[in-house]
Amino acid sequence: MHNSSGEVMNNYLKRLMNVKMKFFFSTVGMVLAFNVNAAQLADLDVTIQQAISATPNIEKGKALYRNCAVCHSPEGWGTSSGHFPQIAGQHKSVIIKQLEDIQLGNRDNPTMRPFADPVIKLGSQAVADVAAYISQLPMVPENSVGYGAQLDRGKELYEENCKQCHKENGEGKADKFYPRIQGQHFNYLKRQLHWIKTGKRRNADIKMVKQLRDFSLQDIDLVSDYVSRLRPDKSLTAKSIHWKNPDFRKGFRAAPRN
Ligand code: HEC
Ligand code: HEC
Repeated sequence: MHNSSGEVMNNYLKRLMNVKMKFFFSTVGMVLAFNVNAAQLADLDVTIQQAISATPNIEKGKALYRNCAVCHSPEGWGTSSGHFPQIAGQHKSVIIKQLEDIQLGNRDNPTMRPFADPVIKLGSQAVADVAAYISQLPMVPENSVGYGAQLDRGKELYEENCKQCHKENGEGKADKFYPRIQGQHFNYLKRQLHWIKTGKRRNADIKMVKQLRDFSLQDIDLVSDYVSRLRPDKSLTAKSIHWKNPDFRKGFRAAPRN
């Protein structure tokens, strides 16, 4: 196995440095705006690094996931409008990393912070637990897809620009923090790619940003459409679109499903 945990950590630290550099080169105003000071940042780093190597407890993660289900739904499937992303089946490492980035203000997600804050404050074990719980949830069998026009062009764009990291079928790569993007809702993909291209999503992988710089709006549509149609392995999806997460009682109120 070439993916030793040393290499994983190394890679992670490199990515973290990247985030930090961007962070420190930013203005003091930004630090105040995001309400994170250097000491808190160092604490957060430690929390996240420990979360990645912790042995998760799925039962505890289940309880913590109640903080998330209001928006992401008990199944973790998000909404087909793409307002809330599907997070079920995402790699644990990616979930942990995204939680950190949202916390650092590298992603504009102010609505989620009040819910993620208390979990992160519980420490690295809690972060590992909730991430592990989410990653083992079965994925939605039918996500929303694009218009189905020029799928060949979408495929071409994907293979030339994205496959090297997100892999053949959009399954990503856990130890490199490359997200699983297969089976994700079309509008969410589109929005993220716009935000990555325009720099609104500031945590984005530098190479990916370069890749996307030359994409027209139509290219973004076409590649998002193609990606939304990449199917996760059958073992990862729920048997039916009507599957309900048995860990939640009937009538649990989630955000409107639009
Ligand atoms: C108030 C609603 C809300 C709550 C509660 C919430 N989230 Fe989110 N979350 C969002 C939204 C909206 C996005 C997408 C933001 C964007 O478009 O950048 C998101 C994005 C994410 C992402 C990134 C997804 C990706 O594919 O990159 C992860 C991971 C995540 N949430 C995990 C959680 C966890 C874990 C919890 C509970 C501790 C939680 N969320 C609670 C609204 C919420
Ligand atoms: C050099 C590796 C690399 C390349 C090439 C790359 N990505 Fe990514 N991608 C990443 C990483 C790492 C992340 C997670 C962190 C971030 O936002 O950069 C990501 C995040 C994403 C996300 C957000 C996922 C989520 O759940 O929020 C989408 C969508 C995405 N990439 C699509 C693409 C598409 C489409 C292409 C080709 C046009 C592409 N990427 C090229 C590495 C890459």
